[in-house]
Amino acid sequence: MTKKTNIEIPLLGDGRTEGAVIRLDQIKRDFQVGEETVHALRNVSFAINEGEFVTIMGTSGSGKSTLLNTLGCLDTPTAGEYYLDGVSVRKMGKNDRATLRNRKIGFVFQSYNLLPKTTAIENVELPLMYNPSYSASARKQKAIESLIAVGLGDRLQHKSNQMSGGQMQRVAIARALVNDPAVILADEATGNLDTRTSYEILVLFQRLHAEGRTIIFVTHNPEIAQYSSRNILLKDGRVVSDTVNNAIQSAAEELARLPREND
Ligand SMILES: Nc1ncnc2c1ncn2[C@@H]1O[C@H](COP(=O)(O)OP(=O)(O)OP(=O)(O)O)[C@@H](O)[C@H]1O
Ligand SMILES: [Mg+2]
Repeated sequence: MTKKTNIEIPLLGDGRTEGAVIRLDQIKRDFQVGEETVHALRNVSFAINEGEFVTIMGTSGSGKSTLLNTLGCLDTPTAGEYYLDGVSVRKMGKNDRATLRNRKIGFVFQSYNLLPKTTAIENVELPLMYNPSYSASARKQKAIESLIAVGLGDRLQHKSNQMSGGQMQRVAIARALVNDPAVILADEATGNLDTRTSYEILVLFQRLHAEGRTIIFVTHNPEIAQYSSRNILLKDGRVVSDTVNNAIQSAAEELARLPREND
């Protein structure tokens, strides 16, 4: 992985977005519901550089999940251009887009989305199944390394139903990392977790950020923005603010300050 780059604030439409991992240009997404058209995204443009940890916030219905689904190539915009690692996603066929998604994006969801009754290793191996260049033993080795990296070296053979919420989310993060993706996309990744466990997961995301990972983290929780390097606020499908955080807080320090349950 390349070193963390200095963050250049991409001014919308000024062209200073060369080399961005993600570039959205006037993205629109309309949903037709009966007679009504819902404008879920209205001319959203921004660029995200390698090594940024971006939180995306906004009230319910502001378009956060629609935006994340677009970024993750799970949904196709009605209009506009999306470049992922310099590649125009719009021009791609369905199969190429699926391959791009598999190689470039790691997803982390609120509800973990692990396979039930399946071990941690098997869950993490999954994204590598679509890549014929990995042998079964190489897959297993990569999965183990990824699980160790998220602190689950002692839970390799545990099944999803034998783990806590925080542990399941770590498995999901290990799965997101195993392909060494260009971007990690998280939708309310701490939404189902208690305060302490949420901070433990945030500590992990901050470590990945420090290691140079690019992270996009959708959340309802305004506190989480303090731990990221940039915050984009959506309202009614539009970007209403886009700010760099020059005073990033340490989730590890906050975790240390939290009272323990048995105190
Ligand atoms: N498949 C769909 N069909 C029709 N309308 C949709 C669809 N998906 C989303 N919408 C609408 O688009 C808008 C944005 O929805 P989205 O799920 O992106 O919001 P959100 O910011 O993620 O909200 P929340 O915080 O509640 O998760 C909403 O008005 C929603 O009703
Ligand atoms: Mg949502």
